[in-house]
Amino acid sequence: MGIFNKKKKGNWFVPKGQEPTEFDKKILYWQNKGKLVPRRGLILTPGQIDGVRQSGVINTALLDLVQEKIHAGMTTNEIDKLVYDFTKAHDAVPADLGYEGFPKSCCVSINEEVCHGVPSDDVVLEEGDIVNVDVTTIYKGYFADASRMFIIGKTTPEKERLVKVAKECLEEGMKAAVPFSFVGDIGNAIQTHAHKNGYTVVRDLCGHGVGLKFHEEPEVTHYGRKGTGMLLVPGMVFTIEPMINMGGYKVFIDEDNGWTVVTDDELPSAQWEHTFVMTDNGLEILTH
Ligand code: MF3
Ligand code: CO
Ligand code: CO
Repeated sequence: MGIFNKKKKGNWFVPKGQEPTEFDKKILYWQNKGKLVPRRGLILTPGQIDGVRQSGVINTALLDLVQEKIHAGMTTNEIDKLVYDFTKAHDAVPADLGYEGFPKSCCVSINEEVCHGVPSDDVVLEEGDIVNVDVTTIYKGYFADASRMFIIGKTTPEKERLVKVAKECLEEGMKAAVPFSFVGDIGNAIQTHAHKNGYTVVRDLCGHGVGLKFHEEPEVTHYGRKGTGMLLVPGMVFTIEPMINMGGYKVFIDEDNGWTVVTDDELPSAQWEHTFVMTDNGLEILTH
């Protein structure tokens, strides 16, 4: 988790001998005001965006498949196998597998597990569980990253509300992300909605630039002040993936597997994620 550099970054420049376009001028305006702005590499071409969109189609079909098959009594490794087989059958690659040593093709995080749950033969889904399945697909080199919550059978009204509000938090974040807004506008909207509902926002993990790489700038925090963080301009591709806790915001990493992030107070957590491209008219979801 990095700390935002509040100093002028000087990321944007106009090549020598070229006149700044209107687009350049808008970015330079904020850069001169000391805001963090993207570098050119974070702005994808229409062709690249189309590549991420195609990867997103497979990613969405995968989560649809999980939605259809998930049930009480299923092991989390069975979900992993579904993801692996479907991904391979579509000439794609599961980005999680081998990523920094991650041993599986997706993350399955249950109840108090916040994220990065490692699929296992020993973990069986039970009636009443709330489960996040997070999948990242690489197709023709383009990355699409999304996750959904699934409720196994019937759960408690409390957990059901958490799942619903976590989804609303993602939607509030999306609404705040308009062209030439800031990452902090997204975080502020998410945090406001979570707090209004009596929940907290995980601070140690964030959304991220994606598309050409798995994890890239900007760091999309799900809390924060308006007008802070990186400027969001058309062509940028990134995720929003708020992790909303029923209790406190603190989390720790499970020592047994070195991956699974769990709430400190062991109260439940819920998360929804999409990959987006910023357009001239706001966000377009690339994973649905
Ligand atoms: N998909 C996760 C995210 O949203 C990252 C999982 S990395 C893994 O960024 F190694 F745990 F798979
Ligand atoms: Co992500
Ligand atoms: Co993800």
